[in-house]
Amino acid sequence: MQGVCKSFETGSSRRFAALNNIDAIIDGRSITVFKGPSGSGKTTMLSLIGAMSRPTSGRIWVGDTEITSLPERFLSDIRCRRFGFVFQNYHLIRGVSVLENIMVPAYPTQASHRQVRQRARALLEQLEIGAKAGQRAEYLSGGEQQRAAIARALINDPEFVIADEPTAHLDTALAGRFLDIVSGLKRAGKTVLMASHDPLIFESATVDRVIELRDGSIVKDP
Ligand SMILES: Nc1ncnc2c1ncn2[C@@H]1O[C@H](COP(=O)(O)OP(=O)(O)OP(=O)(O)O)[C@@H](O)[C@H]1O
Ligand SMILES: [Mg+2]
Repeated sequence: MQGVCKSFETGSSRRFAALNNIDAIIDGRSITVFKGPSGSGKTTMLSLIGAMSRPTSGRIWVGDTEITSLPERFLSDIRCRRFGFVFQNYHLIRGVSVLENIMVPAYPTQASHRQVRQRARALLEQLEIGAKAGQRAEYLSGGEQQRAAIARALINDPEFVIADEPTAHLDTALAGRFLDIVSGLKRAGKTVLMASHDPLIFESATVDRVIELRDGSIVKDP
């Protein structure tokens, strides 16, 4: 990220600066956590990096690709293929089986339905919720929903996994289990970016770098 700013219109020609002049280089195959108080810009940061929104000014590269200048149809392709997202409230689709939920991000790709289904099953087994494949998503427990959300984020085998407040609804044991999964992702060569104000996450030895935000600026980045 180079000189990245993001501001929002807040009515009657006023603007609110959610991120100010962010410069950062994030290494691949590492685990980075953005921490900071509520409103400091963590979610805004993740949505810019994950090509879900565009900066007001500044430039962002994903590897060699400068995403800030890409037309929307290329951006959606990058979002789909290169990123996996675990949202704070998981956003699983109610009324649909866990297996179907996990397959959803693969629909825009050319992958065959059979292969995607196999891969979804394998991911569910890996995350120890294979027995829940046929269950409707809304009947899963919080921890199971989170693992289903992780499986969905991994269905297209993305390079980057973005997780916003991933342990907000988990107890200590499940948060520890989540960190095990994340370190497994790193061993598998993935780059993980998270937003969290949970000390279990940002004090964990699994995390390589903690970038602290305040009022839209980086205030600490060792
Ligand atoms: N679409 C928007 N329009 C106006 N203001 C916004 C918009 N999105 C975010 N903001 C503002 O930008 C600031 C940063 O928001 P952001 O969601 O990134 O914070 P956060 O660090 O993720 O907070 P939390 O820990 O509560 O999730 C907040 O003050 C928020 O109100
Ligand atoms: Mg947030």
